[in-house]
This record gives sequence, C-alpha cells and structure tokens, in this order.
Amino acid sequence: MPLLHHVLLGFLLILLYLRTPTSSTATDTVSPSRALVGSDRLVSNNSKFALGFFKPGNESYTNHNSYLGIWFNKVPKLTPLWTANGNNPVVDPTSPELAISSDGNLAILDHATKSIIWSTHANITTKDTIAILLNNGNLVLRSSSNSSIIFWQSFDYPTDTLFPGAKIGWDKVTGLNRRLVSRKNSIDQAPGIYSLELGLNGDGHLLWNSTIAYWSSGQWNGRYFGLTPEMTGTLMPNFTFVHNDQEAYFIYTWDNETAIMHAGIDVFGRGLVATWLEESQEWLIYYRQPEVHCDVYAICGPFTICDDNKDPFCNCMKGFSVRSPKDWELDDRTGGCIRNTPLSCGSRTDRTGLTDKFYPVQSIRLPHTAENVNVATSADECSQACLSNCSCTAYSYGKGGCSVWHDELYNVKQLSDSSSDGNGGGLYIRLAARELQV
Ligand SMILES: *[C@@H]1O[C@H](CO)[C@@H](O)[C@H](O)[C@H]1NC(C)=O
Ligand SMILES: *[C@@H]1O[C@H](CO)[C@@H](O)[C@H](O)[C@H]1NC(C)=O
Ligand SMILES: *[C@@H]1O[C@H](CO)[C@@H](O)[C@H](O)[C@H]1NC(C)=O
Ligand SMILES: *[C@@H]1O[C@H](CO)[C@@H](O)[C@H](O)[C@H]1NC(C)=O
Ligand SMILES: *[C@@H]1O[C@H](CO)[C@@H](O)[C@H](O)[C@H]1NC(C)=O
Ligand SMILES: *[C@@H]1O[C@H](CO)[C@@H](O)[C@H](O)[C@H]1NC(C)=O
Ligand SMILES: *[C@@H]1O[C@H](CO)[C@@H](O)[C@H](O)[C@H]1NC(C)=O
Ligand SMILES: *[C@@H]1O[C@H](CO)[C@@H](O)[C@H](O)[C@H]1NC(C)=O
Repeated sequence: MPLLHHVLLGFLLILLYLRTPTSSTATDTVSPSRALVGSDRLVSNNSKFALGFFKPGNESYTNHNSYLGIWFNKVPKLTPLWTANGNNPVVDPTSPELAISSDGNLAILDHATKSIIWSTHANITTKDTIAILLNNGNLVLRSSSNSSIIFWQSFDYPTDTLFPGAKIGWDKVTGLNRRLVSRKNSIDQAPGIYSLELGLNGDGHLLWNSTIAYWSSGQWNGRYFGLTPEMTGTLMPNFTFVHNDQEAYFIYTWDNETAIMHAGIDVFGRGLVATWLEESQEWLIYYRQPEVHCDVYAICGPFTICDDNKDPFCNCMKGFSVRSPKDWELDDRTGGCIRNTPLSCGSRTDRTGLTDKFYPVQSIRLPHTAENVNVATSADECSQACLSNCSCTAYSYGKGGCSVWHDELYNVKQLSDSSSDGNGGGLYIRLAARELQV
C-alpha cells in the first residue's frame, strides 16, 4: 500500500508540474510563437476579462459544440459577451486552436480537417502581428512593434453585448454598421432573429429579422434618448451620442472598475442592463426594454398566443402544436406552432374550402399585416371572404370593418383587459372542421 501511495503521489506531482506552466504563463496575448489550445485562456491584464474556447451547457444538457468567446473572468456563471464563431462551432472531438495564421490574421484552426474555421480577414500590411485582450474586453489584432497600428478589433463585430467604451452605430466612411444580434438560444451561439441597431438619424431600435422595429429609443436630446428618460438614473452609466460626417454612434462609459456591468440583448430579444452581485452570486437586472416578453415582436413565432400572465408565456393557438419542442426548451420559441390537421381548402376533395370552420379568440392584440376587405359589410361576409381564399388563415370583423390574414399569424398577444382588442371583434382562426368536432 505505501508503495502504491508513493506511486500515486508521484503521479499527481507530475500532473501538477505539467499543469502549472499553463496557468502561470497565462497572459493576455496570442503571438506567432504562442497559440491558444484546448482549455488555455487569455486573461486581460486587469483580470477582468477572459478569452478562450467554451462549451455552453450543464450537467443535464450536454453539448458538443465549442465556441471562441470572451466572458467575465470573475463571474462563475459563464456569461458569454462576445463569440467569434457562432455560426461555425468546433465540433467534438476536434481540439481547436487559436493562432496567428501565416497571413498575419488571427484564426481558429481545426486540426482534424486542417481547415480554418474562422479568421479576422483583415487587410494586414505587416506579417508581424499579435492579438491582445485589452482591459476593456476588446480583442485587438495589431502590429507587434507599434500598438497604434490596429488591423482588427472585436469591438467592431459585437455579438449580443455592448461593452463600456465600444461603439454601437455607423462608420459612414466604410459603411460598417456595429449592431448587437441576439443568440439563437441559450446553448446555440448562432445569430438569432433579434437585433439592436442605431438608425442614421440617431435613434436606437430593437428589430425582428432586421425589418420590424418593436422598440425605439426616441431621438437623442443631449442627455438621453427621448423615450428612455430612465437613462439618467443614478445606477446608469454615462452615455454619449456622436454624430458627424464620418460617424454616427452611441457609447457609454462606466467609471467604477470593480463593478461588473452587463448591457445587451437576451435570447428573447429584450434589451437589458445588469450588475453582478458578489454576495448572492447572481445577475441583478435593473433595466429592461421591452418590459414584458409579449411586447417583443413575434416572440413566440407563428400561430401562438403570447400571455405574460402565464408560465410558459408562449402557447399554441387551438389546433396547433409546437414545431420544435427541443428549441422551445432552450428558450427559442421563434419557430412557433404548426397546424395539426390540414385545412380542407385546396385538398382534392374540397376545392372550395367552404367546409373549414373558425375558432374565436377574444381580448387579444390582433396579428400584424391585416388586409382590409371593404366589400364585406357583415361578419358573415367577412368569414366568407376568408373561406374563399385557401391562403386565408383568420379574419376579424369589428369597428374597422373586415380584416383578413394570409399564411402565418404573428404577434398575437392576450390582453388582460377583456373589453379591449384592436378591432373589437375578436380573431377567428381558420381550422379544419375536424378540429372543432367534440
Ligand atoms: C499590467 O498590470 C500591472 C499591474 O497589475 C502593471 O504593472 C503593468 O504595467 C501592466 N501591463 C501592461 C502591459 O499594461
Ligand atoms: C441546463 O441547461 C438547460 C438549457 O439551457 C436549462 O433548460 C436547464 O434548466 C439547465 N439545468 C440546470 C440544472 O441548470
Ligand atoms: C481589404 O481591402 C480590399 C481591397 O482594398 C477591400 O475590398 C476590403 O473591404 C478590405 N477588407 C477589410 C476587412 O477592410
Ligand atoms: C506607429 O504608427 C503610427 C500610425 O501609423 C505612427 O504615426 C507612429 O509614428 C508609429 N510609431 C512608431 C514608433 O513607429
Ligand atoms: C427573415 O428575412 C429573410 C430575408 O430578409 C426571409 O427570407 C425570412 O423568411 C425571414 N424570416 C421569417 C421568419 O420571416
Ligand atoms: C460620468 O461623467 C462624469 C464627468 O466626466 C463623472 O464625474 C462621473 O463619475 C461619470 N459617471 C459614471 C457613472 O461613469
Ligand atoms: C463600485 O462597485 C462596487 C461593486 O458593485 C461597489 O461596492 C462600490 O461601492 C462602487 N464604488 C463606487 C465609487 O460607486
Ligand atoms: C388569396 O389571397 C392572396 C393574398 O391576398 C392573393 O395573393 C391570392 O391571389 C388570393 N387567391 C385567390 C385564389 O384569390
């Protein structure tokens, strides 16, 4: 036994000896002679930020994709702030490497396929480059001999987090638009459907699929954006908006080096500002826009009803089921629901569609993009107008006359006030007659 103990102890010491150099050489720099492999990390000189490969997930949800990212070094709950290769994860069992490639760019190499998974793709005028994780969380690729020659920086390609000191907005000369994009879900770091952008006239918008704005900051008035007076609160950082011939951007600074702040958009498409509470070891979110989930456009995807007073807040409309239960579990509800029973309209036995039925839903915010049918002057005519077109999925007849909707129904929300809805007539959802037989 003593012999075995000695052997084990010796073995442990060798392991410790082998491990120590990695941690003691932890620096903030990748250079041509120093790559980052496996669980190696870069740590900024002030110890605030770390960069390395990470695998989102936990004991109950194993995941085989690794991403290169930046997170808070001292926050035990891994909070990715920036991700390089959200669209191209490194898949097990490949061990990735972050290195300066032969053309001077910073690149993620996949040794199994001998391919480059991600690269900074910068125009580099010297072969002699290094990448440094700065104290503000910015990863810069620069000349090793002259720190003011910067070829690329992560602040120009943000993920879902706005770092203090990083610009959000436009470089009008190069056309670069720095915008925040949500992650697809709590595991998959690929870009999601929500983004936060600064308009060229200096107002911020939260957008669905880059097109539909569901929240606006209002215009900058010198101290805050018109619709967000809470920006002047005491817990709030210092904001600056700069607009000139070359640039239009928004930036904030935070002068407390010890406080850990997180500002950005979450997987649900909501903007947030949070601070890390050391005592309770959790994030305290003290600013959120929109304030409730259901005010995020189409947060539950097509054919759903969003209800902030229910848990879960996303539910399928009658006659529909969750399209992708796996995505729903990971907080990505944007795939919505699909019809259980095909409509009879357009089928071989029924070309007229007159056998489909309608199911009424009251007290809701009506779906986006209604089409008005002026010729229909009664609820019955409105329902007939919908039945006569196989792509029509719902109608509403109320104060504004007859409205019909085609294809997917988006953005329906349950209203708590039972007397109010957009049109006063409720929404009639088209279903196969079989769905309504009891
Ligand atoms: C890193 O931080 C130490 C103090 O913690 C300081 O002495 C040193 O100059 C810093 N190095 C750089 C490159 O800023
Ligand atoms: C593990 O992660 C999944 C996906 O984010 C989450 O739904 C689940 O609650 C987590 N479980 C634990 C024990 O943290
Ligand atoms: C690199 O230079 C080429 C040619 O001048 C230009 O088209 C390209 O946009 C540049 N790339 C970057 C990342 O600036
Ligand atoms: C570093 O580069 C800047 C910008 O190109 C230049 O103005 C400066 O003279 C350079 N410094 C040195 C020491 O070469
Ligand atoms: C988002 O926009 C793209 C093109 O702009 C379109 O192809 C896609 O269908 C849209 N996604 C949804 C869910 O509508
Ligand atoms: C904001 O800026 C003022 C003046 O520069 C400074 O006194 C103050 O500490 C700053 N506040 C924060 C939260 O950064
Ligand atoms: C800075 O933040 C820390 C941690 O949140 C807090 O304890 C401290 O009081 C703050 N300092 C100032 C000057 O606000
Ligand atoms: C059904 O409605 C859609 C959208 O308004 C229209 O494009 C299509 O032509 C209509 N189909 C018929 C058969 O009227």
